[in-house]
Amino acid sequence: SSTSREWIRQPIIVVMGHVDHGKTTLLDKIRGTAVARKEPGEITQHVGASIVPASVLKKIAEPLRKYFPKLQIEIPGLLFIDTPGHELFANLRKRGGSVADMAILVVDVMEGFQPQTVEAINILKEKKVPFVVAANKIDRIEGWKPTPDAPFLETIRNQSQRTINILEEKIYRIAGELYNHGFEAERFDRVRDFRRTVAIIPISAKTGEGVSELLALMTGLVQQFMKKKLVTSSEPAKGVVLEVKEEPGLGTTIDVIIYEGVLKKNDLFIIAGKSKPVVTRVRALLMPRPLQDMRMHEGRFTQVEEVYAATGVKVSAPDLDDALAGSPFYVIPDETRLQDYLKMVSEEVSELRFKVESDGVVIKADTLGSLEALLEAMRREKIPVRLADVGNVSRNDVIEASVVKKSKPEYGVILAFNVKLLPEAEELAAREGVKVFQSNIIYHIIEEYAKWVKELRE
Ligand code: GTP
Ligand code: MG
Repeated sequence: SSTSREWIRQPIIVVMGHVDHGKTTLLDKIRGTAVARKEPGEITQHVGASIVPASVLKKIAEPLRKYFPKLQIEIPGLLFIDTPGHELFANLRKRGGSVADMAILVVDVMEGFQPQTVEAINILKEKKVPFVVAANKIDRIEGWKPTPDAPFLETIRNQSQRTINILEEKIYRIAGELYNHGFEAERFDRVRDFRRTVAIIPISAKTGEGVSELLALMTGLVQQFMKKKLVTSSEPAKGVVLEVKEEPGLGTTIDVIIYEGVLKKNDLFIIAGKSKPVVTRVRALLMPRPLQDMRMHEGRFTQVEEVYAATGVKVSAPDLDDALAGSPFYVIPDETRLQDYLKMVSEEVSELRFKVESDGVVIKADTLGSLEALLEAMRREKIPVRLADVGNVSRNDVIEASVVKKSKPEYGVILAFNVKLLPEAEELAAREGVKVFQSNIIYHIIEEYAKWVKELRE
């Protein structure tokens, strides 16, 4: 066995916000900046995540030295989860909280708060994840004169008083919305205590203005408030399954975010499966091949012997067909402890997938994480749940709902997030008159259902 060592890992940061408010553009900008400024040989691409290394953070923060003279970079970088969206965020669950250390809530300054902004805030509150608000698209404010990639505190000086006033009013409005959800908020340069006040950073993901302050602020905040949480050591890896993916030549693989320890080739690990936990061994650990190394006959991935937290990695292993996205991922240090791990994973999963003998709705979702998000939304809306499970809507789900329908018509329904309605289920639902509310946006499902209940009662 190797000698134990400790290190500070990259904090895991997730980008959330309403549709079209600029999450992907912001991540592309951050990645672009990182790729453009990185030292030769530094790989920033990981499976499902990108790392902005400390050397790049240093360069980005350089022009900010006069505003933040004390900023020293002690973390090895920031790890951004690539596929944004709060359904995914909910996937990042671990025992007792979220894998995400911090979040960036992107709000379009022109549009302000929208339904998914509220949904994101609710998730962040429930999971107790600290966040900053990126007030995006400042370049769209009337009269804005952009200076590409400039710090906000510089570009703001080139704007007319009228433009500044419009921006101030919009930020004031966002702060007001945050206040309605229980958060004090201020423009970042006016915040006195970052533990009590949410920082709002005006940015443009398109022009890059303000992005350096956003990165510098995230760095400063994690270093000041969560350095202890970021210490990890060469123990067996812990992670979360982000996606289950078919890869040509490899079969079914899982993309995993490792938040603790070391993962090695041949390690025995356990994850949740569709019907029962899956225990198998790492066949290969795969990282994306850097673009410039792409050759005609080589795959998109390159093999590595081991990976360290925090990272994203593709795991190839036998028996992954049944793997469940959103599942916890644990390396089992030795086979004699298999029973403990089986018990742990089953417990974690059965908190979410359950069956109760009461009048309530049937909910179905595509991953454990999204099932949890849907379940929490049901709790908030005070809608009782009879059956919660992962998978497509089946004939059996319709039977469950039709039983409830007889005594409590308003609960005799199926709410389905991001899953299919199987043909035989559709047929039976039509015959039994069981309504199925389907969408890939949680608040749409709830809205439609609420509307239907209202009509039913009238
Ligand atoms: P979903 O993934 O669909 O939820 O959207 P998103 O939040 O990832 O938004 P995306 O980055 O795709 O941006 C939506 C649109 O807004 C695109 O047309 C972007 O070009 C535009 N956009 C994003 N950021 C900015 C910005 O700072 N300024 C301007 N003018 N347009 C922006
Ligand atoms: Mg997007």
